[in-house]
Amino acid sequence: MRAVVEKPDLVVGLPAGRTPIKIYRAVAALSDARHLDWSRVRTFNLDEFITSGDELPPYQRFMHEHLFAHINVPAAHIHFPNGRAADLPAECDRYERAIDEAGGLDVVLLGIGANGHIGFNEPGQALSGRTHIATLERDSRVANADLFGGEVDRVPAHALSMGMATILRARKILLAAIGHEKAAAIRSMRKGAVSTLMPASLLQLHPDVTVMLDPPAAASLH
Ligand code: GLP
Repeated sequence: MRAVVEKPDLVVGLPAGRTPIKIYRAVAALSDARHLDWSRVRTFNLDEFITSGDELPPYQRFMHEHLFAHINVPAAHIHFPNGRAADLPAECDRYERAIDEAGGLDVVLLGIGANGHIGFNEPGQALSGRTHIATLERDSRVANADLFGGEVDRVPAHALSMGMATILRARKILLAAIGHEKAAAIRSMRKGAVSTLMPASLLQLHPDVTVMLDPPAAASLH
């Protein structure tokens, strides 16, 4: 919030997911109470499912409901990777370029998957640095089932996601986690080896990371 006051043309990276809902609610309430001006802010969401159809894509729908409908950020300043583009690799390049042309991310807010994923950078022998087509783990599809009427088989198997290098280029990183199911990932992220098998551990390479945890998520740190 203070960042928007200090730099009205802030470039922000944002996640979907259950974790940021309360943060977005607080941002909306404070923006309203303090007449905070988001008209020059630009937003780039971390990821979006690859879907077909005419309705709003799932994470766009989520973001409009929980944040964008409540602040005065112009629609033209809101960016998502387009999971319906005819040429998905070209779309990934376009998204990276759009972030660069905006001057790079000043700040990115992150959640974390129980398996340590960030955005949709899933654990693996290798990670993509840049925006890429991601194949989702079963657990990640289960975690997103709410957006698809609770039916995990309706959750797409693929998404477009910023890469870890895209995220690590942000000047400031904020990560939020709630619940005991995130405790093991938080411990590995903070105290484990830097490994592509735990994508969140790569955040150890960044000089300015703030982690916000509830007590159950922080339980394994002591
Ligand atoms: C999702 C998103 C991530 C999010 C994470 C945690 O699948 N792709 O950006 O941070 O998983 O989600 P939640 O906050 O619902 O636990």
